[in-house]
Amino acid sequence: MSGIERPRRLRRTPALRRLVAETSVEPRHLVLPMFIADGLSEPREIGSMPGVFQHSPDSLRKAAVEAVEAGVGGLMLFGVPKPEDKDPEGSQAAAPEGILNRGLRALSAEVGDATVVMADTCLDEFTDHGHCGVLDASGAVDNDATLLRYVEMALAQAEAGADLLGTSGMMDGQVGAIREALDDSGRTDTAILAYAAKYASAFYGPFREAVASSLQGDRRTYQQDAANRRESIHELELDLEQGADIVMVKPAMAYLDILRDVADRSPVPVAAYQISGEYSMITAAAERGWIDRRAAILESLTGIRRAGADIVLTYWATEAARWLCRS
Ligand code: PBG
Repeated sequence: MSGIERPRRLRRTPALRRLVAETSVEPRHLVLPMFIADGLSEPREIGSMPGVFQHSPDSLRKAAVEAVEAGVGGLMLFGVPKPEDKDPEGSQAAAPEGILNRGLRALSAEVGDATVVMADTCLDEFTDHGHCGVLDASGAVDNDATLLRYVEMALAQAEAGADLLGTSGMMDGQVGAIREALDDSGRTDTAILAYAAKYASAFYGPFREAVASSLQGDRRTYQQDAANRRESIHELELDLEQGADIVMVKPAMAYLDILRDVADRSPVPVAAYQISGEYSMITAAAERGWIDRRAAILESLTGIRRAGADIVLTYWATEAARWLCRS
């Protein structure tokens, strides 16, 4: 038996394993998605995402400071307007006093010097029908009319202090339209985090509760089909041509092959979004004692990094960053 290969030699002790680990997860790689809800005086826990909150202005600032102290790389903010403020055009998305823009100003004032403030540049939280765009007379999402709204929204977010705009709506031409408008208004330094490959996913389920959205229909005319791989490369190329500074793949765990494809080809940094359903699945299984929560979270983040993500958006960002600081 002396002649057999023995790869176990390098797995024998924690020190050996640490020495040869190929992938690491550091706090700076993690971005915390956050929700600010209009009219809240206390944070409200999201039922399907235990441990994740819709924030009030105070709790948003507090959670942002905690995240920054834990060393996270950035914060991605979503706004939850009052139901009566939603309309077919999502007009509150671009209003300077809309909840998301107020939240961005608060984050930028509180932690803007210490971390990267990112904004969700999409209409679905603000439209009464829940789509990521405006609708035409037939009820279909009108791509080009939506671009005009995204541009207004992007300019308002840049004005409110966002460093990075997350274009998550999957409209054709959105990155180019926003880049041009930013440049024309002198905002050449505002960067775009392009959701290059975003799939229509059942795993977004808990997010609907997080942003209090009741979607009419589905997003399959604009988000990608889970069956497809090649079109992610096409989407990547289009977003790069249009000026994406960072590209993202979303969801993460069911799309690690796509993440690897994109990471192999992208000349710009690559992000992946570990979405609400991924959070809820691990949380629920851990609550039942079926999996080891911390080990499962760290394994999932390591897997996403190993598949090629430079940056990982995860609802565990602060907690995981604390664990990683100490390790
Ligand atoms: C759309 C958007 C969604 C998420 C982030 N941005 C929902 C969707 O596309 O249906 C989902 C994030 C998550 O599930 O954690 N603006």
